[in-house]
Amino acid sequence: MVLVGCASDQHPLYKDASANIESRVEDLISRMTLEEKILQLNQYTLGVNTVENNFGEVVKDIPVEIGSLIYFSDHAEGRNAMQKKAMEESRLGIPILFGHDVIHGYRTTYPIPLALACSWTPELVRRASEVAAQEAYACGVNWTFSPMIDVARDPRWGRVMEGFGEDTYTNAVFCEAVVKGYQGDDMSEKNRIAACLKHYVGYGASEAGRDYVPTEISDQTLWDTYLPPFEAGVKAGAATLMSAFHTISGIPASANHYILTEVLKDKWEHDGFVVSDWGAVEQLVIQGMAENEKEATMLAFNAGVEMDMADKMYQKYLSELLDEGKIDLKQVDEAVRRILRVKFRLGLFENPYVEEKTESEIYLLPQSLEIAEQAAAESMVLLKNEGSLLPLENVGTIAIIGPVANDKAQHLGNWGARARVEDVVGIIQGMNEEFAEKSKILTAPGCDFEGNDKSGFAEAVRIAKASDVVVVCLGHKGSWSGENQSRSTIEIPAIQEELLAAVEATGKPVVVLVTTGRPVELQRIEKKADAILQTWHSGVRAGNAIAGLLSGRYNPSGKLAMTFPYSTGQIPIYYNRRKPARTGDQGIYKDITSEPLYPFAHGLSYSTFEYGKLTLSAKELKENEKIYAEVSVKNTSKLDGFETVHWYVCDPYSHITRPIKELRFFEKKRVKAGETEIFRFEIDPLRDLGFVNRKGDKYLDKGEYRIMVGDQSVSVYVK
Ligand code: NOJ
Repeated sequence: MVLVGCASDQHPLYKDASANIESRVEDLISRMTLEEKILQLNQYTLGVNTVENNFGEVVKDIPVEIGSLIYFSDHAEGRNAMQKKAMEESRLGIPILFGHDVIHGYRTTYPIPLALACSWTPELVRRASEVAAQEAYACGVNWTFSPMIDVARDPRWGRVMEGFGEDTYTNAVFCEAVVKGYQGDDMSEKNRIAACLKHYVGYGASEAGRDYVPTEISDQTLWDTYLPPFEAGVKAGAATLMSAFHTISGIPASANHYILTEVLKDKWEHDGFVVSDWGAVEQLVIQGMAENEKEATMLAFNAGVEMDMADKMYQKYLSELLDEGKIDLKQVDEAVRRILRVKFRLGLFENPYVEEKTESEIYLLPQSLEIAEQAAAESMVLLKNEGSLLPLENVGTIAIIGPVANDKAQHLGNWGARARVEDVVGIIQGMNEEFAEKSKILTAPGCDFEGNDKSGFAEAVRIAKASDVVVVCLGHKGSWSGENQSRSTIEIPAIQEELLAAVEATGKPVVVLVTTGRPVELQRIEKKADAILQTWHSGVRAGNAIAGLLSGRYNPSGKLAMTFPYSTGQIPIYYNRRKPARTGDQGIYKDITSEPLYPFAHGLSYSTFEYGKLTLSAKELKENEKIYAEVSVKNTSKLDGFETVHWYVCDPYSHITRPIKELRFFEKKRVKAGETEIFRFEIDPLRDLGFVNRKGDKYLDKGEYRIMVGDQSVSVYVK
């Protein structure tokens, strides 16, 4: 190995915090051996929390020059100790990047991202991400594998919980909020960590909702549907991206030169780096792209994956590939450059260690918990409220029944980074606190999440009969959604539906709480419930938020970010589909309705709102003129409430047909009882009416466009 540069230099430029980052990077690269460079391109895993047990033994095989470690220790002490080895025992003292999956909070667990999207409050999500970053940072984490911005339209796919739902624009907006929450404006500040946009790109299109399987995505759909959230994240400054597992129309995402290099680096000019998903490089062999591990390494590296997660392929084969002329040293330098750039931007060379604080100084701080409760309350969606059963006012006795009622763990959902069950306020605790002075609470689980054991039904029915209202807590376990959690149907298990039927037969008013990590089939449940609240897996303050919504302390404001199909057989079903060739009774299902049970953006409030007439500031416009659409929203109830107005556009006749409607803007505002608020959509013709062609260039056709809000639409003409 040849050592370039001057190792004896006492004051190397790369250590000079006042020098600019690019010159520091170049200086450092010029001093690195090939072996040191290749180690920067690798991320090792040791499994969670293995370090504390026997630090010396566990770390003995980790090269101190390693680029990154994932899941290395849960504590600042462990990470500081490893970092010390990197800083002091390696020749150049390059800090390690510690990665961790911080998906919806670190220890203060927030609602799952799909739920957060239903809040339509990006600022709240930014603040929640900021807390997650703060807690993770305090434990020595520098880098999180979030946000997941895979547009997903198949609720059988377990990972729908991790993204922001079915809509492209929604994913883009929440992506920006999360990136800002983690990284702030300057990643070198305390409490900031690097974001990773994943899974680049189109993973959500997995066939039949199964995980890791191929996708078929046309270039048009790639640009229309799957790429825009990533572009938004890149523009928001996201430091890194993760290349996905799946194959896109024959080319695996982790060996896809077009998306990793031509789009990401050449067109969008992203200057951070791409890490492969866990084992995605070696899996190119299983996928049938590469004949062996070495070829897989060559393909991933040449396509534009800079860091290899977990499978050690780069470490094993890059040097050989260089000798064989199959990869280029310039490209190795470029990959190292991108990784070092992120490390410098994080300020790791100046501040490689974190202050070791006590748990109570880091976790579950009052303001972090306040955000948790607000986020949970705003994310839950009131799907049905027949006869205004909710809020529960002046109710003598409330029965709380069902498997979720006293199972706090389920509110943590999947991907709890350091989540702990004892931190969670469950439904019974929340209800007892909320209704302490007002109502008597009786409880009985009735049954388990699945199985056939009905022995608890009798007690459930007995307490239902002794109550004025019954709250039935149904759902899925947290572990039933997430990675590798595909399900062939999206039903609630039969035993739970049978419990509901038994309780409903008492004739008491029934509120159903649905706690799941995906949209579920509620057609039978809907018939037996007077009110339904979709609570999702909503984190450490789920119980307080649920109780607050049931009591009326909170006025529901969540709206669905993903369609609830009438039944599994309708999947995929989503709002922004293209027009069919025939209408009316042609092409619809002959056995069930073709409409979803609850469409995208459905969600009720205890307030009632009346929309005024939709107006436009001009009926004709030129490509570079902006116009406004406005609508007034009156709160016609006696209760202050929040309304989210969704603005859609449509190009009704186009040489590449466009969807029936596409969300282009949303805004949530408080509207006081009896008062009116004006909601305004500023339309930038190219941005909002134009669309992207198969090469990713945006353009605008002349002609008619429609602007829609609620069930109203107006036309505007582009001259
Ligand atoms: C595999 C998952 O697909 C990805 O989302 C995650 O970040 C990595 N494993 C690391 O845990």
